[in-house]
Amino acid sequence: MERRQETVGQENPADVKKAQNKERKRSSVLEVRQLPRDASFFLVGVASRFVQRKDKNGNPFWDISIMDETGQLDGKIWSSSEWWDIEGDGRTRLNALTDEKVLKLEGNSVGVQGKVVEFRDQNQYNFSVVYYVDQEKYPPHDFVRRSPIPLVEMEEDLRGLIAGLREPVRGFLNRIFFELGIWEEFRICPAAVSMHHAYVGGLLEHSLFVAKSARLMVRQYEALYPELKEEVVVAGALLHDLGKLETYRLSPAPQMTLPGTVVDHIVLGYRRFMNLAEQEELDPGLALEIGHILVSHHGSREFGSPTLPATPEAMIVAASDDLDFKLFFWKDQTSLLEAERSISDYNPILQRRFWRPDRTVSDEARTIS
Ligand SMILES: [Fe+2]
Ligand SMILES: [Fe+2]
Repeated sequence: MERRQETVGQENPADVKKAQNKERKRSSVLEVRQLPRDASFFLVGVASRFVQRKDKNGNPFWDISIMDETGQLDGKIWSSSEWWDIEGDGRTRLNALTDEKVLKLEGNSVGVQGKVVEFRDQNQYNFSVVYYVDQEKYPPHDFVRRSPIPLVEMEEDLRGLIAGLREPVRGFLNRIFFELGIWEEFRICPAAVSMHHAYVGGLLEHSLFVAKSARLMVRQYEALYPELKEEVVVAGALLHDLGKLETYRLSPAPQMTLPGTVVDHIVLGYRRFMNLAEQEELDPGLALEIGHILVSHHGSREFGSPTLPATPEAMIVAASDDLDFKLFFWKDQTSLLEAERSISDYNPILQRRFWRPDRTVSDEARTIS
């Protein structure tokens, strides 16, 4: 397989066409991420991030992220790599430093031949041949990853959650989501560029899970804490990442905006929420209780919250947000493990390796005991 793929980059256009047409030889991002070291692959996706850098000898290289509907792969293109334009019938060699198609690669579809190599005990993906593919045949939008939960289901969930709340929060949420247009942004917004829920509908999926588990916590604790306000918890949970609407954009893969980079979602979200609360004449005391959840939801100053959760409602939302974020990472990292492995690579963001215990062994152990 490796030899066949290598000839694609060095031989005549007919071979390139042949390779393009043999869809079965194409791997998805998920399949590539499951490959062992030294394996070669051919992948087509949208270049969601493309940055030129220089190595210590002054030679250019590129950091590139390629996304398809199964995930995102971060890789390297070195100065020795080949660049080909195969849009249309023939193929022409591209100069990576001067050709517009390369300079404006971000947001366009590409094909890459690559190899899995080892770097500092982690997998690294090196792309030796890059193809600028036909953008009509491979539309960038087709490669954008989406939430696994259908949008209609999530909309139903959101409407149901809001309908179960007391006034005036119910009316306020209904108005801001469905009359003031937030829904149009919310339904497609990602929750991140690369960390968690970094796909179309990711913010909605994340906010719904945070709200639903936070509501369960309220119901568990309300016997001991009758003052707990379910409507404040659910509103705070649904809106806790509101600022992400201004932090990310889809082009078509998730990208960070300038305000997102220099202000970030907590401040952007608090400002937008307080403006909406004032405009909709929400009681100022109630608005402050919900606003407090927005600014404190990261749970510590170290993680970007200017103030720490000071109410039971804010503690519940911060805990639920933290859980949803970590569970996402566990699933994302362990889904890449080959069948015989149970421990993931080290995750620098959460500073741990994830464990997928062997379900069969556990079942046997349970039976024996
Ligand atoms: Fe957040
Ligand atoms: Fe969040």
